[in-house]
Amino acid sequence: MKLIILILALVSSILISSCSTDKIELSNSDKAVSEKIDSILALMTLEEKVGQMLNLGLPALLTGPFYSYRDTLVFDSAKVQQLLVEYGAGSVQNLGSFPMTPKQWNQVIEFVQTTSKAKTRLGIPVLYGIDAVHGANYTAGSVMFPHQINLAASFNTKAAEQVGAITAYELRASHIPWNYAPVLDVARHPMWGRIFESFGEDAYVASQLGAAYIRGQQGSDPSANDKVLACAKHFIGYGASYNGKDRSPILMSENYIRQVLLPPFQEAIENGLLSVMISSGALNGVPSHIDHFLITGLLKGELGFKGVVITDWGDVDGLHAVHKVAANEREAVKLSVLAGIDICMEPYDASFATHLIELVKSGEVPMSRIDDAVRRVLYLKFKAGLFNNPSLYEVEYPNFASKETDSLNHQMACQSITLLKNEASVLPLNKKSRILVTGVSSNSINYLNGGWSRTWSGQDTSYNDKGKLTILQAVQQKIGSNQVCYAPGTGYVDGDFINEAVAKARPCDVIVACVGEKPATEKPSDIDELDLPEIQQELVLRLAETGKPVILVMVQGRPRIIRYIEPKVKGIVMAYLPGNEGGRAIADVLFGDVNPSGKLPYTYPRNSGSLWAYDHQLSDERDVNFGLAGFTPQYQFGFGLSYTTFEYSALKLSSDSISMTDTLKIQFEIKNSGTRNGTEVALLFVSDEVASISPAVKQLKRFERIDLNPQESKSIDFFLTASDLAFVNQQNQRITEPGYFTISLADQKARFKLY
Ligand code: BGC
Repeated sequence: MKLIILILALVSSILISSCSTDKIELSNSDKAVSEKIDSILALMTLEEKVGQMLNLGLPALLTGPFYSYRDTLVFDSAKVQQLLVEYGAGSVQNLGSFPMTPKQWNQVIEFVQTTSKAKTRLGIPVLYGIDAVHGANYTAGSVMFPHQINLAASFNTKAAEQVGAITAYELRASHIPWNYAPVLDVARHPMWGRIFESFGEDAYVASQLGAAYIRGQQGSDPSANDKVLACAKHFIGYGASYNGKDRSPILMSENYIRQVLLPPFQEAIENGLLSVMISSGALNGVPSHIDHFLITGLLKGELGFKGVVITDWGDVDGLHAVHKVAANEREAVKLSVLAGIDICMEPYDASFATHLIELVKSGEVPMSRIDDAVRRVLYLKFKAGLFNNPSLYEVEYPNFASKETDSLNHQMACQSITLLKNEASVLPLNKKSRILVTGVSSNSINYLNGGWSRTWSGQDTSYNDKGKLTILQAVQQKIGSNQVCYAPGTGYVDGDFINEAVAKARPCDVIVACVGEKPATEKPSDIDELDLPEIQQELVLRLAETGKPVILVMVQGRPRIIRYIEPKVKGIVMAYLPGNEGGRAIADVLFGDVNPSGKLPYTYPRNSGSLWAYDHQLSDERDVNFGLAGFTPQYQFGFGLSYTTFEYSALKLSSDSISMTDTLKIQFEIKNSGTRNGTEVALLFVSDEVASISPAVKQLKRFERIDLNPQESKSIDFFLTASDLAFVNQQNQRITEPGYFTISLADQKARFKLY
């Protein structure tokens, strides 16, 4: 009889004994799991253990060339036998190349599970992982939310939690228990193509929204049939390469890493994060995949991370092929495993396992390292509930793609849209106006969704969901097709149909020019210029020459430079990548059915040579006259207008001096001084006046969305303690120094002393 039975028997019995010190330290409730893990580990051969460390791409198990499937998948029995059975791959990831229905996912994962259970000696369940980065985007028909950057623009922690929870539900409906999300990279370079996948440039926003997303996704028990395991990525610095390109070197002091990049990961771990993906970049010359200090010292040691560390896609091979820190693949495997990698995402084959088995046999990698990694992997599988019920096949998911989630999706898109300009209250538009809708993003669902939408690049139109509206369609639906003209205008970087657009603009009252970025992620999202592509700028300039008011709608992850066209347009709406309901949300904002409330989650640069984040040092502001007027972005971090007005007043501190153990209460009044309902995001910044390391000019410490009826006032309280005022000193320790601090909330300021 198979050992599966033995394992299941071990799993269902609770054994009690003490834990040895080299094991993952588990909470009391996890100690029984630890015992079970020990029992399984004791049964495993070296080959079986190494198999658990191997994460295969699904296409490696299929017939034909990689990514050649359009609507069916065919498993290749020889590949399945070799990789899943003989090598005993412990996890599988990704999609075949087209989005499958929950039923198809069920069949695929059931096949993988039953094969592994029936044909491997121990029948350990396989962990399936996917990138569900804005909803369960690789499951046909799932809700596709706005991307993370939109969640950041809404400054809505609760929304981030709900997105995490609904994504988890729809992933479980697809029988997938492990999500490679959220992205916790703090996006420090505006050129980075994956900004849309991040929570923007601020560490505090990324920490708060990231932790909320993880709570929503994992809940208190990720094995529940509506929860999944989160995987935060990419540790660390991936969003801060020196040149803004994907997977490029990061040159950064340890001090800066701890101050700016680490907090979101730390917060996530404190909120129960169970897996971390490593960055493909090299940090100060050392590829993170071999950085023992980073993985074993900082992440697993100092931050006490108990979960699994997985590589990014093919990155062990990259140590030899691209980074040139390993003479061959074998050495690459050795260096990465010794650094602390637990699972290798090896999309194509099992060479990682072959090398690792040899390395252990030759004594170059100690068995204790393998045991540590496998313990972590089995722990993750227990946490996902795989040993109880590998796929939860019998559970029904009636709320998959429900009307309620669509409406929530719409609300989230609405809350993120950021109004950047509204000259002479040109917006909201009159529904009786005759409108020209034009531009590359005006009639495309793909532009609204961006990368990771049904396919990796998000460009294939054949998988778009029926019934979702482009901006054009949403405007037509709102005001009637007979009042709307359409002209494509331009392509992304070429395709000049500008004359037609200008001709069609003449009989119209208003022009809605929808510009933006072609869907892409990773390397294909690299750009050489931050400026909005020339042809798109040309369209806007030519349209403006007609004398008709132009409203610029930007559908893009990055802040593409618009310095030349900005003065020519009357209104600017930043939509980021608002997802499947984005068209409707944009139309709602344009015509005033929704009052915009989003705020920029990054600094919007004016010039491509001046790319500072808002929390730069004062010396960054020096200008050519040696004054301090050198920071002139197009729009500041946190900027965003509304169709109503808000007044802040009566900022009051509970004391003008606090000790290291006191709590400071910050109270202020906020009033909707306009004539329509609105939501204001209050942002509380603190400036450390003098510190032993040149301090940031200001740092965000608290935020809150506040709904206000016309003429309504509310009194709001925020609280800070000394730990909110801490920073990383020259010795890389987090400390708090006494001194003066300034609080700023919109135009209100107050000062206090910490002693
Ligand atoms: C990306 C990761 C992703 C992984 C699996 C990589 O190329 O950088 O973010 O999770 O592929 O699809």
